Amino acid sequence: MSISQEIESKINIVELAGRYLQMKKAGVNYKALCPFHSEKTPSFTISPVKNLAYCFACHHGGGPIRFLMEIEKIEFSEALHILAKEAGVELKTDYYKERWEKTGDIYDMHRIATDFYHEEIKREENTEKLNYLLNRGITLETIDRFKLGYSGNPRELFARLKEKGFTEQNIIDSGIFVGPGRDKFYGRIIFPIANFAGHTVAFTGRITGQGEPKYLNSPVSDIFNKSAILYGFHLAKSTIAKEQSVIIVEGQMDTVALHQAGITNTVGISGTALTKEHIGLIKRFTKKLYLCLDWDKAWVEATFKSLENLYNEDLDIYIISLPEAKDPDEFIKSWGNFREEMKKALSPVAFYIKEGAKKYNITEMTGKKAIWEELKKMLKHIRNPIEIDAYIREIGKILNLSTDILYSELKNFREKRVIEDVKKKDGFERAELIAGYIRLYSYFDLFLEKFQYTLSDGMSIPSFFVIKNLLSARESGKEDENIDIDRLSAIELFIEEENTTLSQDIITGKFLELVGYLNKLCFEQEKKKLLENIDPNSTEYMVERHKLQEKAKKIGVKFN
Ligand code: UTP
Ligand code: MN
Repeated sequence: MSISQEIESKINIVELAGRYLQMKKAGVNYKALCPFHSEKTPSFTISPVKNLAYCFACHHGGGPIRFLMEIEKIEFSEALHILAKEAGVELKTDYYKERWEKTGDIYDMHRIATDFYHEEIKREENTEKLNYLLNRGITLETIDRFKLGYSGNPRELFARLKEKGFTEQNIIDSGIFVGPGRDKFYGRIIFPIANFAGHTVAFTGRITGQGEPKYLNSPVSDIFNKSAILYGFHLAKSTIAKEQSVIIVEGQMDTVALHQAGITNTVGISGTALTKEHIGLIKRFTKKLYLCLDWDKAWVEATFKSLENLYNEDLDIYIISLPEAKDPDEFIKSWGNFREEMKKALSPVAFYIKEGAKKYNITEMTGKKAIWEELKKMLKHIRNPIEIDAYIREIGKILNLSTDILYSELKNFREKRVIEDVKKKDGFERAELIAGYIRLYSYFDLFLEKFQYTLSDGMSIPSFFVIKNLLSARESGKEDENIDIDRLSAIELFIEEENTTLSQDIITGKFLELVGYLNKLCFEQEKKKLLENIDPNSTEYMVERHKLQEKAKKIGVKFN
């Protein structure tokens, strides 16, 4: 048993969740209104048997550690420490203690460095640097709030950290220095980057004159995961929750400028598109998201790229385009009213059409067709029928086309993409769901019997690795570290709930239907591979096609 499992086994989830939720008993489980999204009927389920607290609607929650992390918005190591104390488990020389000590040191060094830089910018000899910020319209109050700073001395910070008792190796590992103790950010304005608990995990330093790079960033580290950090989140989260919306901008200056203008539900991405990790973090707080990315050449592409990650996330997305301004910072400085622009924000469809309209003449049939081709590419990412319906209506209205036609066009387009379009069931991938059935009902052999392809054939299916890991874990007789047991247990709980009133025969039937779906995916893949490079008018094509037809019959999938 791992240390976290040991701790969790000593924590009663019903008692833990009960501190935060109003629960009602429902059979062997308890139900409550989900604390992670707003709802009217309780879908948050607390299972004493599985020691799990999970929401089937928004997929938040999990075992005691995960539940505490999410409800208290703390990190893994912190939750682990709290629960270890409660469980009376001592975290001695194990991995987590070491990790905590290691990262604990890095956190401490970053805190000390943050304070150091912040003091520096207020020193008299650095007035010029302070003026740089003031001249850019940033107030002293904002400088304090974001703990902005300046690195005015190449070696002093290193010395200070040594004084505090950190070893040289530790200090070097912090990522703040280059060579033997020279401050990497020397001569730059410092923006501390904090995690959502408000602890500094990295820095970005802006050059005040000309030069490259304009912004210098800390390297990725044990505590800094660039694609999961949103700049300013710790200062924005309460407003995000209160206003039930978030504004995403690009970079530090824009985040700071909007906060200063009173729009404090703003967070920044730096040099990356919006990732799934960012979205996961945001969704704990709100489902309404405004994108306001830099208005340059790459703007439209960057927006599209971020949009791709946003579909199927059950989010309301709006895109703000600022007139005649490069970015929110400049817009605000030229006395623009940002809230007015928020009101004019466009849905993704309207945004696509507006951008497309610059390339095509959408009052003409050829223009309509061209833009529809592009919209289809966007729509193919979307699985939720309600979302699709809303978009199709919007497209029909703007392009003045019948929604019936658009629907049937889209259907044709989608059918060509069976493989790509792996449908999800209530947020779980089919393959994960199958893994849940296998583990819950011991369908190991049944799966191997009914799945008509090899395990490596299956690997092209999203999440199939969960099944594969599960099977190989059984083979080797030990739990596989690559399996996310928390998630798998949540899936099992989901299946149990869904199947409580069903007979075992029907449950098996459901399972076989799911496996049939995998067979279908693999078959489509095989078919594509085989026929792709053969001339459709040749005899060879006919022969191969016939063979495939026979195979389809044998393994019980539809051939078309
Ligand atoms: P921009 O070049 O648009 O900078 O880069 P900006 O935010 O407008 O900053 P100012 O107004 O010139 O000071 C957007 C973001 O991309 C990242 C930074 O996070 C920046 O805020 N970036 C940019 C880098 O990481 N490195 C760079 O060299 C440039
Ligand atoms: Mn700018």
